[in-house]
Amino acid sequence: MSDNEAKTETGNQGLSDADPADVDGSPDALAMMGDPAMAACPQLMYKAMRDADPVTNVDLGEISMTMVWRHEDVIEVLRNPEVYSSREEAVEIGQKRPLIPLQIDPPDHAKFRKILDPLFSPKKVALLEDRTRALAADLIEKVVDDGTCNFDKAIAEPLPSTVFLELLGLPLERAAEFIALKDGIIRPQATADKTDTDVRDETGARIYEVLEAVVAERVENPQDDFLSGFLSSEVDGHRLTPDDVVDIGYLFFLAGLDTVTASLDCMISFLAQNPEQRQQLVDDPSRVNAVIEELLRFETPVTGVPRITSRDTELGGCPIKAGTTIMVMLGSANTDEEFWDGGDDVDFDREVNKHLAFGGGLHRCLGSHLARMELRVVLEEWHRRVPNYSIADGVELNYSAGLRQIDNLQLVW
Ligand code: HEM
Repeated sequence: MSDNEAKTETGNQGLSDADPADVDGSPDALAMMGDPAMAACPQLMYKAMRDADPVTNVDLGEISMTMVWRHEDVIEVLRNPEVYSSREEAVEIGQKRPLIPLQIDPPDHAKFRKILDPLFSPKKVALLEDRTRALAADLIEKVVDDGTCNFDKAIAEPLPSTVFLELLGLPLERAAEFIALKDGIIRPQATADKTDTDVRDETGARIYEVLEAVVAERVENPQDDFLSGFLSSEVDGHRLTPDDVVDIGYLFFLAGLDTVTASLDCMISFLAQNPEQRQQLVDDPSRVNAVIEELLRFETPVTGVPRITSRDTELGGCPIKAGTTIMVMLGSANTDEEFWDGGDDVDFDREVNKHLAFGGGLHRCLGSHLARMELRVVLEEWHRRVPNYSIADGVELNYSAGLRQIDNLQLVW
């Protein structure tokens, strides 16, 4: 079955027709994660793992990892940073210093969030909306008369990179360079003489070069942009140093670009394959926020986040040794039937929707207001111009496994 058929067969109610027994028995989490059909419809795997092995030990050769699937256990990990740390060792992404604020544990974490939170408040984000709308409209206008486009390449990928360049006060012509840099970290392409790690380290070094140059320039010559805002903010007598600002910028490359791209891809793919639910949005555009929250929950574009244990502990009755990498499966928590009423159904009328698509606990996404604004603006501008669309015939959608980007999201209308 093709990915889009697999999705379509689940009907317009999420997964209610799907049979978790398809993947039940003795599920192998890693094998399932490598299966393209499962990447398109991971909710089936989530259920199988919650039922069979909710705290899963996975042997990856050099390291062993524990995957956590149930809502209750996911919350336990996210809310206990003293035991489940997100310090640098939790994940290697080409960095030479801890990324701020993600790889900072309490108590220092709070002083960074105190400075950063006000800069990403709904009020601050609202100031960026008109400009973001113009950028989105511009990208959509370029394809609207063609009757077809690869939504990922035409809209979902360039939009967040352009918004990011605006935030940094850099020329928009650098978008392709920035997309290549974040890809070099998130999906490095090994070559005959370079391993993934080599590519990641080289790309990391280049990101530092780019950011150090811009930050040095803003120290000399402050502008009306976020980097200058970071440099001039002071809370409780604490100011960010230029290195801090570089370490924040590096995290934004990884946290703020692919996440929005993957979310837009997942949402448009779902709406393309579920015309009745899409029509609800087209008929009443004021439902856009409910659509966004429900699709963030059901699709969970960032499927999991890493932690590392600071001491021996126990989770869901399983002993876990200090120094174990933990993969916290947000997507599974977001559909866990123990927590959600009809978690595998997509319901735009869901009244309470406390999903974990932006994480939870003290590292909950700093950019959630910015992300929601970008998602809303694109969904509004897109459906105003293209209310009817579907996946092009014969296309097998290619979802990436961890961050659910769809690089061949070919639409027709
Ligand atoms: C729909 C898009 C987005 C999704 C789904 C998303 C998801 C997440 C998740 C799951 C986390 C928690 C990470 C963890 O606990 O290890 C996180 C943290 C974070 N996100 Fe986002 N994110 C999105 C957009 C953005 C944007 C646009 C920015 C840019 C400012 C951003 C900046 C951050 C930062 C700085 C953190 C770390 C917060 C901390 O450690 O205190 N995110 N995000």
